[in-house]
Amino acid sequence: MDKMIKIILIVIVSLIFLSKNISAKEAGTVVEKSTLIVEELLYDKGSDKIDVSKYPRVMQEAYKVFASKCSKCHTLARPINSPYAIPEEWERYIKMMMRKPGSGIDPKSAKTIYEFLKYDSQVRKKGLYERKLKERKK
Ligand code: HEC
Repeated sequence: MDKMIKIILIVIVSLIFLSKNISAKEAGTVVEKSTLIVEELLYDKGSDKIDVSKYPRVMQEAYKVFASKCSKCHTLARPINSPYAIPEEWERYIKMMMRKPGSGIDPKSAKTIYEFLKYDSQVRKKGLYERKLKERKK
């Protein structure tokens, strides 16, 4: 997605919130929140499928768990197009999603989804994965 479009969208969403009478202190949070909303909108607009035909059989099975559990409250496109790649990020986000009321994600499925996302990131987001690992080691 074009960076400029993203910035314009963030400004628009921020302005919508800022038009409601809020304090200057809240304004910073508004921009942060708007950025998150726009980013999520953009993730949602991306592809909602992963071609797992070349993945190992066990990962193809794990994909089914991921696809059914992680598309309950938002599109599957959201996790698929999110910029998370390294294991700690997936651990953090899966835990966060699990704790949401009515998530229906049991620890066993969470582990399967975690293994899938870890594998998938190394294949599909190879560049990002390696860059993030390098940054972490600093
Ligand atoms: C119970 C509902 C629910 C389920 C099930 C769920 N999510 Fe979410 N997810 C949300 C909500 C609500 C948000 C919006 C941001 C927030 O509240 O954290 C979100 C946001 C996200 C984001 C964007 C977060 C960000 O800050 O960039 C990712 C990535 C994500 N979910 C991944 C997943 C994955 C992976 C799964 C399956 C393990 C999953 N979600 C299952 C409710 C859910």
